[in-house]
Amino acid sequence: MADFSPVDSLFNKIYTSRWSPLYQSGALALFFFVVVLVTGIYLLLFYNVADPYNSVQNICSQAYLGRWIRTLHRYSTDAALVAIAFHILKMFTSSRSWGPRARAWASGWVLMAGVVFCSWTGFLLIADRQAQWLALEGARILDALPIFTAPLPMLFSEGELPGSFFFSILFLHVAVPLGLIGLYLLHVSRVARPTHKAPYAIRLHSFLALLVVSVAWPVAMKPAADFSRLMGETTVDLFFTGLLPIVAKMPAWSVWVFGSGLLLFLALGIPMLTKPKEKLVPSWVDWESCTGCTTCYMDCPYEAIAMVTRVGKTAGDARRSELVAKVNPDLCVSCGICAGSCAPMGVGPAKRTGRDQLTAVREWFESHSPVGDMVLIACEASFPGFDLGTVYPVSCGGSVHTSVIEYLIRRGVSGVYLLTCPARDCRNREGPKWAHERIYNDREAELQARVDRNRVRTGAFAGTEMAQAILDIQDFAQKLEALAKDNVEAAPVIEPICPEKVLSD
Ligand code: HEM
Ligand code: SF4
Ligand code: SF4
Repeated sequence: MADFSPVDSLFNKIYTSRWSPLYQSGALALFFFVVVLVTGIYLLLFYNVADPYNSVQNICSQAYLGRWIRTLHRYSTDAALVAIAFHILKMFTSSRSWGPRARAWASGWVLMAGVVFCSWTGFLLIADRQAQWLALEGARILDALPIFTAPLPMLFSEGELPGSFFFSILFLHVAVPLGLIGLYLLHVSRVARPTHKAPYAIRLHSFLALLVVSVAWPVAMKPAADFSRLMGETTVDLFFTGLLPIVAKMPAWSVWVFGSGLLLFLALGIPMLTKPKEKLVPSWVDWESCTGCTTCYMDCPYEAIAMVTRVGKTAGDARRSELVAKVNPDLCVSCGICAGSCAPMGVGPAKRTGRDQLTAVREWFESHSPVGDMVLIACEASFPGFDLGTVYPVSCGGSVHTSVIEYLIRRGVSGVYLLTCPARDCRNREGPKWAHERIYNDREAELQARVDRNRVRTGAFAGTEMAQAILDIQDFAQKLEALAKDNVEAAPVIEPICPEKVLSD
């Protein structure tokens, strides 16, 4: 998959692609969000809308928990933003911003805007100098909307803010994150089996890292807000309020125009701009072949396949199934995963069904004559121009029908190595997982038992892990050579049935 090296490369070196947090960025953002919610509940117990600044200060001066939990609350919000930034980069660089994924893309930006808004309300609740600046700027910008009867900055003319102000902000600070949960469900609504949870080890290490940083560098209190004095210099938060000095210099209307324009461009403009010119070729089902087994329906990563009642089946027709698969072309991203899942080869994008794959591999075999060679089946998008032995390029490892592997081995290649992206970094989401299940765990369309498993290997590597991939492929090649040698040594010595002299007679 498209790596945004060198960051990918660095993370793969440190963690290996299997454990790289970059490949779990969406699930990690969610994990940090949960940490924010849990720590927020603790803070809520001690926060006082009538005396906000002092109540936060009291939390910080608690001997054990308060200061660190407040810091953890802040840092996990920062970590969520970093995870979201990587998540966006991953989605963008793997071209998942348009077509059937546009809903996730657009709702993602609204989610992100929600996260930023929640953080602003959080900063206001502290009632310090930064909150003062944020409140003044917020009032100035909101005032540009023709919905308030009195000028909002009047709110601050009394010198200090009323408890009702903090009550409203606290309400928003609690209610909006809860609303974001609903938005998140919409965000992943077109993704089958979304990965809500990053692996335990990644969650544990991320949490421990946050905890250590929180204990080592607890967030300090800034001076209290004082609306009776002019706003002087104050520091801003690197992650969420860093743009305040720039925004403060902009006319209020331009903040609205620029802000909403940017959000519209990112959420709706990018899907239009990134959409490829050529039309996606959606999958289709040959109802004559379909046995209604439901595997394609289960394996499709975007829930684009439904099982429907077969039309025209007569009562006595026991040969044909009650149900057949039906593709919704509006949801299909043409990944071809279903082609690899169908034992009778009845589904897949045009020219990429199991049957088409068999025809293609037959032609390829005739033109390349790879008898005795090891054949490397590799995703062409992830490993372009890979030149190690005889390469058979495919669009996704998860779309390969196992009969292609069987065909190659039966025609006399020494072995087949299926090179895929790391399981969590497949642009078709679950390709490597299904390929592995079909080859080793009898998932339909399974590699038949008659195929010698010693001659097949799968490897999942990131584009930045080529050195490891090459080592593993070379190791497999050596095993194949040893296998060939063993076969020669173990080949039965053909004894003549009759003694030699009789033969010569
Ligand atoms: C709070 C913020 C966010 C969270 C917690 C989140 C989480 C997730 C999760 C868990 C998935 C499912 C991934 C999978 O199982 O393959 C996902 C999918 C997706 N997210 Fe986000 N996301 C967030 C924000 C965003 C943003 C800001 C964008 C882009 C602007 C975005 C774009 C996408 C896309 C396009 C998918 C679909 C992936 C696919 O088609 O394979 N997300 N998100
Ligand atoms: S995998 Fe093939 S046989 Fe099974 S439901 Fe899908 S199209 Fe029908
Ligand atoms: S090609 Fe098949 S598996 Fe992929 S989205 Fe379309 S119907 Fe689903």
